[in-house]
Amino acid sequence: MANNMRYFIGNWKMFGIPNSLSILRKINAFITKDKNNKIYKVIIATPFTLLESFSKYFTNKKISVSAQNCFHISQYSSNTGAISAFMIKKLGPKYVILGHSDNRSEGDDEIILKKKISAAIENNLLIIFCIGENKKEKQDKQTNTVLKRQLSKVLEKKFNAKNIIVAYEPIWSIGTGKIPDVLYLSKTIISIKKMLNIIFETKTNIPVLYGGSVEPSNIKQFRLIPEIDGFLIGGASKSAKKFIDIIKNYYK
Ligand code: PGA
Repeated sequence: MANNMRYFIGNWKMFGIPNSLSILRKINAFITKDKNNKIYKVIIATPFTLLESFSKYFTNKKISVSAQNCFHISQYSSNTGAISAFMIKKLGPKYVILGHSDNRSEGDDEIILKKKISAAIENNLLIIFCIGENKKEKQDKQTNTVLKRQLSKVLEKKFNAKNIIVAYEPIWSIGTGKIPDVLYLSKTIISIKKMLNIIFETKTNIPVLYGGSVEPSNIKQFRLIPEIDGFLIGGASKSAKKFIDIIKNYYK
């Protein structure tokens, strides 16, 4: 049975200064006033520089702050510029995004990602783990093989499945305005859920989100796929209006 809980996660990437709190204020005001009785959660993934101030701002249980990455050593080390899961957790966020294709393309391979996940779990951070195939892999019909590798080389039964959210983000869809067709997407999301059950050797209920060019104008199409447990939203999350319209249109 599909779960009713939905996640709307904004991935700000390299965007935001302290004044950008005004965006969060608008989102917070919307959620606080929202009379819609749907069960959803909003998470905003900000740059490291805003984690502390934004975490302090939120009082509404429906909203949380996430980091966008963490270093693979769990607490302290002598790596210049690195920020650990321990340091993030002390600032207030509950979540961290790991495995985003932006970071995979800069060297986060499966060995490093496994270490990062362990470090995040050790520090009680919840993980938003991104996976996705590129254009060539899709054309070559390799999507399931790629996703299986990305999941099985990093996730392990010993990780608590309750700490993990998976975000399926086809690389060809990120920031391009292209979204997968309904059949392709629903088949892929269902396969990911099956792969997770195999890895964890139980029916996990790990939420599987979709990410890539989600906009107020296309969000309604995703309702056709009840297996999608929410969305990771990049570009459109930098505008309070667009982000709020995504939530409103989803439930319209
Ligand atoms: P996009 O980005 O919504 O701008 O396509 C999604 C992401 O990279 O998480």
